[in-house]
Amino acid sequence: MVSKRVISDVFNKVSEKYDIFLDLVTLGLINRWQKTLISMLSEEGNRLDIGTGTGEVLVKSNNRGLKVGIDLAKGMLIKAKKKCKECYFVLADAENLPFKEGSFNTITLSLVYRHLLNKEAFLSEANRVLKPGGQIGILDLSKSKMTYPLFILFKYILKPLGVLLFGPDKWEFFVHSIENSLSKEELARETKKFGFELVDYKESFFGLVMFAVFKKPS
Ligand SMILES: C[S@@+](CC[C@H](N)C(=O)[O-])C[C@H]1O[C@@H](n2cnc3c(N)ncnc32)[C@H](O)[C@@H]1O
Repeated sequence: MVSKRVISDVFNKVSEKYDIFLDLVTLGLINRWQKTLISMLSEEGNRLDIGTGTGEVLVKSNNRGLKVGIDLAKGMLIKAKKKCKECYFVLADAENLPFKEGSFNTITLSLVYRHLLNKEAFLSEANRVLKPGGQIGILDLSKSKMTYPLFILFKYILKPLGVLLFGPDKWEFFVHSIENSLSKEELARETKKFGFELVDYKESFFGLVMFAVFKKPS
């Protein structure tokens, strides 16, 4: 069963090769996707990047306040700090954020939302630490007619490369995480329960990748 311990173990183990692998499997498009997400968000104030990994969203971010990243995997944060000296990185759980009410103007999640085990706990925390009118920007796989072909690609075609780079257990984790992707409607329904309104939405790469921005009421 997937637990937070498993998630941090997986990402600690892959941290050294993570950037190269992500570039390979997205044909380098991850950089463009992260820039698209950032362009949809306000540049005002402090930004919190959840599941920051090696910190790429913060490296590319142009917000005018603090840049803070959290992650469960210390190995990822060590890589991130080397890339972004002016950023702050904290080993923490998205479902229990160690920040005061109203600390941030924007929250970003790049390829993270579908990994969260308790999305409701995260959304409640996001609501607490965001300022009124603050935004959550999500970049993730979208559940679409392309999800099944992608699942097959990871499960069979990319499997030899994945197993070679990460080992069989960790590769299985990635394959199964594809199944957790959400549609626009499911995501909007989940976030609405916590008062967030979907204010912007785009898709890319044949509908496989989505960019969604949610706003906390002012
Ligand atoms: C696929 S990586 C994405 C990394 C980075 N955001 C990117 O776009 O490359 C997912 C990251 O989310 C982190 N993560 C998963 N669940 C988390 C949680 N509950 N709290 C904090 N980080 C979490 C993992 O440790 C991992 O580093």
